[in-house]
Amino acid sequence: MTSEDTDAGKHATLSLGSNRQVELPVRSGTIGPDVIDVGRLYNRTHCFTYDPGFTSTANCSSRITYIDGDEGILLYRGYPIEQLAQSSNFVEVCYLLLNGELPTQAEYDAFRNTITRHTMVHEQMTRFFTGFRRDAHPMAVMCGSVGALSAFYHDSTDINDAYQRVVASHRLVAKMPTLAAMAYKYSIGQPFIYPRNDLDYTSNFLQMCFAVPCEPYVVNPIVARALDRILILHADHEQNASTSTVRLAGSSGANPFACIAAGIACLWGPAHGGANEAALRMLEEIGTMDRVQEYVDRAKDPNSEFRLMGFGHRVYKNYDPRAKVMQQTCYEVLNALNIKNQQIFDVAKKLEEIALSDSYFIEKKLYPNIDFYSGITLRAIGFPLSMFTVLFAVARTVGWISQWKEMIEDPEQKIGRPRQLYIGRTERPYVPIAQRG
Ligand code: SDX
Repeated sequence: MTSEDTDAGKHATLSLGSNRQVELPVRSGTIGPDVIDVGRLYNRTHCFTYDPGFTSTANCSSRITYIDGDEGILLYRGYPIEQLAQSSNFVEVCYLLLNGELPTQAEYDAFRNTITRHTMVHEQMTRFFTGFRRDAHPMAVMCGSVGALSAFYHDSTDINDAYQRVVASHRLVAKMPTLAAMAYKYSIGQPFIYPRNDLDYTSNFLQMCFAVPCEPYVVNPIVARALDRILILHADHEQNASTSTVRLAGSSGANPFACIAAGIACLWGPAHGGANEAALRMLEEIGTMDRVQEYVDRAKDPNSEFRLMGFGHRVYKNYDPRAKVMQQTCYEVLNALNIKNQQIFDVAKKLEEIALSDSYFIEKKLYPNIDFYSGITLRAIGFPLSMFTVLFAVARTVGWISQWKEMIEDPEQKIGRPRQLYIGRTERPYVPIAQRG
């Protein structure tokens, strides 16, 4: 295939065999790689493109998040993640992702007030929870309870009504922490704690998780700031697996609550959002610094299925910019909470040091990703391992719903329906069971 600029714009020429050539339009974004538009390839060549895992496939155009995996760049609506993590807060980042611009003070105050007043869930949701076993994984509870929101909030499920799309977005951003805290409380047998409108988003989440009715709960401002930064880091990430799941579910016209539940289900996987829980389990299994090399060797062994959890990324082939901020935040929390037994942090740093100097990881461009340090931080704050991916889902909900809204409002979008390379049996006649061998 060759590409060139012509009066009709950029195009690529695909040669099929010696006597067939097809010109395909090439489109450019504001930054990042061009795309070859293959939308009419099948009609013109009776061929599909083939790209398992979508390693070279763009499924949409978007204005929300930009990633440069080679340069380690992550922008939310054009703003670098490092600056947002340093200077913004999660509610402001939610406004930015949903609306495309940073809010004025008046816009921020109105948005924060709206989110605050949507944090309660329908009281019957509490009865919905009692159907789960106490030892259910909180992600199983979140899949069920978030999907169930569509059984309660019928006035924000019409995807063709712009106002209902906004209300559904606000409800989801506001209610995810409440449902996450309820899932945690249910798992430990403690009573649900209602949201408090006098607290900011992240402090409210902490008090719903860790307060008990018997005594006042005082939010640690350092912990609240660290968790707010963690939420910012996880808020959106272009067309990752769970976001693509939300977009595909939404392309059929499914209601936003069901689409977010689908995203939660996809995020749960250990190759994706479940990696923060898996990374901490791995660090705990390693246990001491003298065992780190053994696990690095296992990860390099071509006959071993073992992978270093929290390492590698489909897009970042340089450092994950979020991992740098996550490592710093982890260190701040451990010091602020005066956590002496930092052995697991020392094991993590030793693992990072060995891996980053090992030719296997260098050649395969495997660096720590955001999940490598987030688990240590979340456990230091007091969350159990089973809640780590739930927190990722709380943060990513605003990214999912922003991408969902963008898709619904994109005139180019239609129901997602990929094709395949069929490698099964050709047509054959049915054989009655009495005649089978
Ligand atoms: C997230 O997409 C996103 O944006 C996701 C995310 C987000 O914010 O939404 O950033 C969040 O999901 C981060 C990733 C969390 N997952 C993990 O930490 C799990 C461990 N990492 C991997 O399983 C893996 O690196 C992936 C899934 C993250 C990426 O896999 P790819 O891009 O499909 O790469 P690959 O599996 O083809 O691996 C390339 C090579 C392979 O070796 P070869 O077959 O070429 O010999 O690198 C090896 C892999 O075996 N490899 C690893 C490894 N990851 C890849 N070897 C050891 N340890 C690892 N962690």
